[in-house]
Amino acid sequence: MTADMGRGRDHRLRLFVLGSAAGGGCPQWNCLCDVCRLYWSGDERVVARSQSSIAATADGRNWLLLNASPDLRDQILRSPRLSPAANASPAERRATPISAVLVTNGDVDHIAGLLTLREKQRFPLYGTAGVLGMIAESPVFQVLDPAFVEQRPVAIGQSFEPLPGLSVEIFSVPGKVPLFMEKGEVDVGEESEMTVGVKLSANGRTAFYIPGCAHLPETLKARIRGADALLFDGTLFADDEMRQAGVGEKTGRRMGHMPISGEGGSLHAFDGLDIARRAYIHINNTNPILVAGSDERGIVEAAGWTVTHDGMEIAP
Ligand code: MLT
Ligand code: MN
Ligand code: ZN
Repeated sequence: MTADMGRGRDHRLRLFVLGSAAGGGCPQWNCLCDVCRLYWSGDERVVARSQSSIAATADGRNWLLLNASPDLRDQILRSPRLSPAANASPAERRATPISAVLVTNGDVDHIAGLLTLREKQRFPLYGTAGVLGMIAESPVFQVLDPAFVEQRPVAIGQSFEPLPGLSVEIFSVPGKVPLFMEKGEVDVGEESEMTVGVKLSANGRTAFYIPGCAHLPETLKARIRGADALLFDGTLFADDEMRQAGVGEKTGRRMGHMPISGEGGSLHAFDGLDIARRAYIHINNTNPILVAGSDERGIVEAAGWTVTHDGMEIAP
């Protein structure tokens, strides 16, 4: 038996859900929508979910963090595989299995956790030139010492290997600029480098991670056809859900998130594309699929979807 086998090394693509909720998490700190209200009242049908992030590995030792959520520190505390002790020798004083970080857009729920990673740890930060440029221009992110955190812009459609054995490709998905950069008329649904999806491949397995998508062009469907796993934008069940819940005026589409249900929703959009496993992620706290046993949970499960939860492992 080799040392590697003794340490449980295993060459498979594995995804680990750190945070299954959208920005704000579930419950959201100030929210009394129907779903959050159930949580606050102690109803066990709603479990807490932290903000949007996953990790991926091809060897069970080195992990790529996909999006750095404001909850990152707690997510690490709850994940022994991401603890500094996971791969380190007894002599090491600084270590982490998080070997690289990739951000899919510049929204707060996907970048605020970079501030948690400021403790002089060496790692490459991947993203599009547009998103990395925005981070580089933001004074607070200067706290990421460039001597340790190397910004590595990646081009759309160009594959790269952030970890041994893990191949990654980013592609544009319909979206928009981050909320805090919105000015005047916002071009929602533009395909630019401000919102990307990610294709992860290792050992002949392929998974797609698309936490935000404003609508689904045929080209995007064709790209995902035949995937072993798809983690897709499950922000809202209904496009006008925030309004219905009395917590906001914006529709899902205006926020850059296509709804699950209704005309043009994601529920059946991937039917017939030969995707082995489909799961909703980046789920907003107003979304009734978060309530175990709800009609809406039943509808998505009957249509072949899983509702992700924090701590879920997916081995496509
Ligand atoms: C989103 O996904 O729409 C954003 O995370 C919104 C936000 O910044 O809270
Ligand atoms: Mn978000
Ligand atoms: Zn809520």
